[in-house]
Amino acid sequence: MDNICDIHANFEPSVRRIVSRWGHDPTGLVQVLREVHEEFGCLPGPALTLIARLLRIPYSRAKGVASFYSFLNEEPLGNYRVLFSDNITDRMAGSERLMEAMCHRLWVEPGKVSEDGLVSIAHTSCTGMCDQGPALLVNGRAIPGLTDERIGRICELILARTPVAEWPAELFVVHDNVRRADIMLGRALQPGDAIRAALQRGAQGWSEHAANERSWREAYVGAAQGPVATLEEVKRSNLRGRGGAGFTTGIKWEACRHATGLARYVVCNADEGEPGTFKDRVLLTSHADLVFDGMTVAAYCIGASQGFLYLRGEYRYLLESLEATLERRRMANLLGNGICGQPGFDFDIRIHVGAGSYVCGEESALIESLEGKRGVPRNRPPYPVTNGYRQQPTIVNNVETLCAAALIAVHGGDWYRSLGTLKSSGTKILSVAGDVARPGLYEYPFGVTLRQVLEDCGAANTQAIQVSGPSGVCVDATEFGRRIAFEDLPTAGAFTVFDASRDMFEVARNYAHFFAHESCGFCTPCRVGTSMLVSAMDKIHAGNGTQHELREMSRLNKVLLMSAHCGLGHTACNPILDTLKRFRPAYERKLRSLDFSPAFDLDGALAQARQMTGRDDEGAHLEAHP
Ligand SMILES: Cc1cc2nc3c(=O)[nH]c(=O)nc-3n(C[C@H](O)[C@H](O)[C@H](O)COP(=O)(O)O)c2cc1C
Ligand code: SF4
Repeated sequence: MDNICDIHANFEPSVRRIVSRWGHDPTGLVQVLREVHEEFGCLPGPALTLIARLLRIPYSRAKGVASFYSFLNEEPLGNYRVLFSDNITDRMAGSERLMEAMCHRLWVEPGKVSEDGLVSIAHTSCTGMCDQGPALLVNGRAIPGLTDERIGRICELILARTPVAEWPAELFVVHDNVRRADIMLGRALQPGDAIRAALQRGAQGWSEHAANERSWREAYVGAAQGPVATLEEVKRSNLRGRGGAGFTTGIKWEACRHATGLARYVVCNADEGEPGTFKDRVLLTSHADLVFDGMTVAAYCIGASQGFLYLRGEYRYLLESLEATLERRRMANLLGNGICGQPGFDFDIRIHVGAGSYVCGEESALIESLEGKRGVPRNRPPYPVTNGYRQQPTIVNNVETLCAAALIAVHGGDWYRSLGTLKSSGTKILSVAGDVARPGLYEYPFGVTLRQVLEDCGAANTQAIQVSGPSGVCVDATEFGRRIAFEDLPTAGAFTVFDASRDMFEVARNYAHFFAHESCGFCTPCRVGTSMLVSAMDKIHAGNGTQHELREMSRLNKVLLMSAHCGLGHTACNPILDTLKRFRPAYERKLRSLDFSPAFDLDGALAQARQMTGRDDEGAHLEAHP
């Protein structure tokens, strides 16, 4: 039998073991909750009470944190908890029909637990498998490539009460789908190459100074400039962050190096929650050593001795292989004390697994989560480079940024800068999905046109591309000559293609639901604003929308831009405004001609009154009295 949430179960031994593995440290709270949940399938009150007691925190904090993350539930949701990925590409590939078929076969309503407590089926935000959707999670494990046949097999396994651990391994296979490789996906470095190259620069500094017959002290200072020399290469490369904001990496690292504190930290942001993005999944699957090399080079440059990899909950299935890679690196002296024989170069990496929250990809929310709290973005400034993890200087970088830094450590800043465009050096990995013949990863030097990408991935009859996910921009066919570059179309990676058969209104509606679902609720403009956007879009979808809704949504955009606390709120209106501008007929086709109408069918609501009064003449209907 799979893990069943039984409120009478004896949690104590497991909870004690897990809390003790996290050193009774309250900053491990999210990990403790996640692991207890994984073992028992839910987090009932007695388990929360015990966790709070053992961590010496108030019960309200444990409960508050548990209620924040969508993968942590306090109520039992069945032995099998099925979550269908609800990105627009999953829907385009038929996820709704497959979910309906599963609900029908297992006798369960969407969003509910079956009467026998066996199974629950619901939606979750994009699971990062858009190149092989539709996908679902069962008890946290990803199954991509859903078909009728696969759904049938999953239902049989559930009805036979087969533990998920015993399900056929091939159900869980996730492909890399690398379609175009360049310097990052195509070039194999040996584990530790980047670290050795960085240390070599330090040694060069030493010998050059010594050869110049300077004093021992000057020669020592030269050697100590090893980290600075590598930092200079990163600056020279003009590498800019690949997580979305595009901040210059060398400047961020330098600011952290110069910040004062008791300790410095390196954080790798592998939250990858933007719908349509899945490149970090592949880097962590097949290039984990490059990621860890990048983190270690960063630690060397800024003087950190602790690093964290924040892995999104949907990629939990990668945890064991990543832990094994870390262990191999410790054995090879690529982590731990005196890395590569360099006295004083001590650094290690710990993995934290998220628990279902898009906003935790925002760097300050991520740090809150690392500290065992709700993932609510902090006020900025101060920025993490001075006040990050435990209020100490911290750099947060995207997975791809750190991989690029490792390449720069080996090949130098000038080499990197020779690729791409003037303001966008190097390459960019695109996560291509949607209406294309060959979905997957495409790595290009910056400056590639959208048209070129469409041609390479086998797109036909394309009407729109959502570049960089819902928080990015939607472009139409008149713009396919534009380029992927910070000076034109910056992107965190998502490249979602829609052909002419797609209803762009429905695309925007799906994204509006995503933002409302993922709003952390901390600030009122975003909490209320994103749900007002959903109401307006649903009203239009139901055929009750008017010009009033379109005006309201533009007004909401101004409010959110002005007063939302973080980037989620600032970008929540993007998909609607972009599609309204480029595909207005898709909205207007659905509008009623009235200037305003209520969000529900008012005439229908009066049916009961008509029945009671025995009237059904024209005068008893609203339509007759506009
Ligand atoms: C709502 C929100 C979600 C974000 N999600 C991610 C994410 O999943 N991965 C990521 O690298 N950056 C994400 N970011 C950007 C981070 O805040 C941060 O800028 C980034 O990790 C910095 O790394 P870089 O300089 O290497 O790009 C997100 C930002 C916001 C506002
Ligand atoms: S803007 Fe939205 S996601 Fe960001 S803090 Fe406010 S409520 Fe949370």
